[in-house]
Amino acid sequence: MSAVRTAHTSDLDAATLAAARALLEEVFEGDFFPEDWEHALGGIHALASEGNALIGHASIIQRRLMHGGRALRAGYVEGVGVRRDRRGRGIGGALMAPLEQILRGAYDLGALGATDVARGMYEARGWRCWEGPTSALTPAGLTRTPDADGAVYVFPLGVPLDLAGELTCDWRDGDVW
Ligand SMILES: CC(C)(COP(=O)(O)OP(=O)(O)OC[C@H]1O[C@@H](n2cnc3c(N)ncnc32)[C@H](O)[C@@H]1OP(=O)(O)O)[C@@H](O)C(=O)NCCC(=O)NCCS
Repeated sequence: MSAVRTAHTSDLDAATLAAARALLEEVFEGDFFPEDWEHALGGIHALASEGNALIGHASIIQRRLMHGGRALRAGYVEGVGVRRDRRGRGIGGALMAPLEQILRGAYDLGALGATDVARGMYEARGWRCWEGPTSALTPAGLTRTPDADGAVYVFPLGVPLDLAGELTCDWRDGDVW
């Protein structure tokens, strides 16, 4: 039996944070960099455990996404991963559910950058693929991010969104989306 709990980064001890980072490094098979871990910090983590073992992680942090002339308060989902031998048992969904509850209560929209394997899970949960061009507000100004086109998902809430319009994220080190 697995259990999911949520906690702010500041409430997690160093050993738990280290276990979450190690899990994500394993889950993403070398495609998980220090910046990716840093992006997952400073918000609320959902942690799935089985006994003393951490088998799943996801977190939500705040960013600004520019769309339709507004700077929207976005809950951005990061570091979603379930240990390979525990996939397909609903743990990914059980991690997302409390984060979506946080989205409903605190944000204008949810957003994330999806991997191909995760698209089905997000779509089944009401997330929508952003169809329009993506960009980032970089130190050099507004810059298109063509690699992210078609891979950004949003969780629409109260604010009207034109999925065919432009969506611009704030700046950060590493992958901007
Ligand atoms: C993506 C990932 C977290 C999913 O974890 P999981 O525990 O296997 O997911 P679940 O078993 O909870 O599946 C969630 C739901 O999505 C559905 N689903 C999953 N993949 C699906 C797909 N390709 N198409 C349609 N539905 C899908 C499942 O049927 C399930 O629906 P249900 O709750 O109604 O039964 C896991 O595959 C993983 O860690 N992948 C590697 C890392 C990664 O890509 N992370 C995502 C980063 S954006």
